[in-house]
Amino acid sequence: MKEKEKHKAGIGTRFQNETKYTPDSLSGHVFNLGAIPDTFKEYPNPIARVSLPEPKAGGESGLWKLLLRRRSRREYASGKPLKLNDLSALLWATQGLTAQFGDTFFRTAPSAGGLYPVETYLCVRAVDGLEEGIYHFRPGDYDLEFLKKGDFSRALTEAALQQTLILTAQVTFIWSALIARGSWKYGQRVYRYIYLDAGHIAQNLYLAGEALGLGVCAVGAFYDDDVNRIIDLDGEEETVIYMATVGFRSPQNPL
Ligand SMILES: Cc1cc2nc3c(=O)[nH]c(=O)nc-3n(C[C@H](O)[C@H](O)[C@H](O)COP(=O)(O)O)c2cc1C
Repeated sequence: MKEKEKHKAGIGTRFQNETKYTPDSLSGHVFNLGAIPDTFKEYPNPIARVSLPEPKAGGESGLWKLLLRRRSRREYASGKPLKLNDLSALLWATQGLTAQFGDTFFRTAPSAGGLYPVETYLCVRAVDGLEEGIYHFRPGDYDLEFLKKGDFSRALTEAALQQTLILTAQVTFIWSALIARGSWKYGQRVYRYIYLDAGHIAQNLYLAGEALGLGVCAVGAFYDDDVNRIIDLDGEEETVIYMATVGFRSPQNPL
């Protein structure tokens, strides 16, 4: 079998495709609310339980405060635009370059093998100095490529199962994975790593948003190929994996 066909038939590629949300795959899906698993695990008979000191490592300073305050914030004051400086700071926090060793540029978030298969797109609704539209972030040249003009927040909301937080967010981050950037080394295991990489990136966005007093919310529920169509991805070689909204916290509901 040729390498490309072997990759297509692999379990990771099938996992990625078969776990895509589509309107069909979701229709008729009901939750069994009586069977929600406990979110804390404990062993019934450990050798002992050792109490820990209160976690006061950094006290009220920097990172510790941000970790304590981080929350998914879904209600935004939609009127004013986000400052371009703040958007730049958020982008840098997610994927900015921080060091170079040989040919490898290291970034703010870790990545399996330093391969960085995750790409960042933005659905810009209200950012100072930027037209509404879809942009692609280039961390190396540190710029944005303007790809599509127009307000895509409604289409993106529809694609995200009508989650209206996208309509009022100033900007929505859309993360895709370029599969071949990792699969040449990791084969099908790349499908694990792209999600782990995206998790690190998104947490950086949450913490940077918190530092700037902005509201951030991860969005993992969406019709994959509808989002792929909005940013013109083929859904196989490059496919959307995660999104997050950013907006001004609503004074009525800071959460
Ligand atoms: C992988 C992932 C997917 C998520 N998808 C959504 C989503 O589609 N819509 C949403 O409103 N929140 C989403 N969230 C946010 C979670 O609901 C939130 O993290 C959780 O309720 C815990 O609250 P906290 O983030 O404020 O601690 C997602 C979070 C993660 C980590």
